[in-house]
Amino acid sequence: MRRPQFISEVLNLASAHSGSAPDNSIWSGFYKRTVSERQKILAQARGLDEKDVALLNKDGPLPLATAETITENVVGTFALPFSVAPNFLVNGKEYVVPMVIEEPSVVAAASNAAKLAREKGGFKTEYSGSIMTGQIQLVKLQDAGAAVAKLNADKAALMTEADTHFANLKAFGGGVVGMQARKLASPRGQMVVVEFDVNVADAMGANMVNSAMERLAPTVEKKTGGTARLRILTNLAIKRIASASAVWSKESLGGEEAVEAILDAWAFAMADPFRRATHHKGIMNGIDAVGVATGNDWRAIEAGAHSYAAMKDASIITYSKNADGDLEGKIVLPLAVGVVGGSMKANPCAVLGQKILGAKSSGELAQVMAAVGLAQNLAALKALAGEGIQAGHMRLHARHVAKTAGVSDAELERAVEFMISSRQVNEAGAKAALHKLRSK
Ligand code: MEV
Repeated sequence: MRRPQFISEVLNLASAHSGSAPDNSIWSGFYKRTVSERQKILAQARGLDEKDVALLNKDGPLPLATAETITENVVGTFALPFSVAPNFLVNGKEYVVPMVIEEPSVVAAASNAAKLAREKGGFKTEYSGSIMTGQIQLVKLQDAGAAVAKLNADKAALMTEADTHFANLKAFGGGVVGMQARKLASPRGQMVVVEFDVNVADAMGANMVNSAMERLAPTVEKKTGGTARLRILTNLAIKRIASASAVWSKESLGGEEAVEAILDAWAFAMADPFRRATHHKGIMNGIDAVGVATGNDWRAIEAGAHSYAAMKDASIITYSKNADGDLEGKIVLPLAVGVVGGSMKANPCAVLGQKILGAKSSGELAQVMAAVGLAQNLAALKALAGEGIQAGHMRLHARHVAKTAGVSDAELERAVEFMISSRQVNEAGAKAALHKLRSK
């Protein structure tokens, strides 16, 4: 591998910052460097060549200069496939759903399940409202019970004060809507948590809730004589619940036995936490992909969904067979997502994702995401309980391998057929397919 031409510049940069620091000192002050300086340091440390650095410098829809303003230590941007899943009919409205995900079959599966749901009217959804809950942890209390009583007695005053930290939300109908204090028995003894429920309107709300908790902590300390430790929202947003339901006719699923097979697959997830983990992973394949495409915090979404499932000790989806023998499915989960705020507007891809979806509020976005999660699960269970999921995966993989091996678009379908039927979904299979097709 060629060494970077700018090696001496790198060494100069590193030595200018090494001082008496240990060997890893090239990283000291890394965050203060320009993007190009960081790239040089990284290239030196990890043996990147000029082609690697050129890739880091390649501007995509998210300009490097913008990426630099979104997070720390940026050296480049990272692209993922940006797909759309059509066919989503939610509460009678058509949606084209943007999805960003690297895994094959996910987008096709969601879109297909949504298409099958249309026969019975598509998805019906609900949303509980955009209530996020912020927590303040109190320790070093003389009497935890008395502190809880005091906080609850002063609830009205505390809520009024808390509300002053959400003045920007007033115009959107938001603000503080509740407060509760609870005693907790912890491995470090008794502590108290005081929680503020806030209607964050169309934002995800993390920043504003966290800021308010930090500002409120001194008041809560003064009232109780305790010490505030953590001041942060909970991702288990049980007051921000989205649900979606749909009916799939038995004919669309392949008959009565196919309905029974899907019900058995679902019952397995209800009964066994090991199966449930994978069942939920599949649901989140769809929901996260929409989260990424719309610039939302998919780790927060994941945390909410999995902790909700753990709290219920059940799947977040239920299925049943109706009087006609058709399959009814319903998903219920916390979905803390926004259409404004965060770094959403900074990322042109997220702006485009929001535009494609066209959800006007965080509730609308959450409800479509819930529908996507249900569609994703139905498709996964249908495939798993039927032919398995590998056939679809292998077909996509074969396309990728064939193209890399030089198969033209015109030859692609026949090459893929050959690779799958000869059980050679690899480079050798692609070459054999090429040979066969071209020698004819
Ligand atoms: C793979 O990413 C997702 C599935 O494993 C989900 C499931 O098992 O339900 C297919």
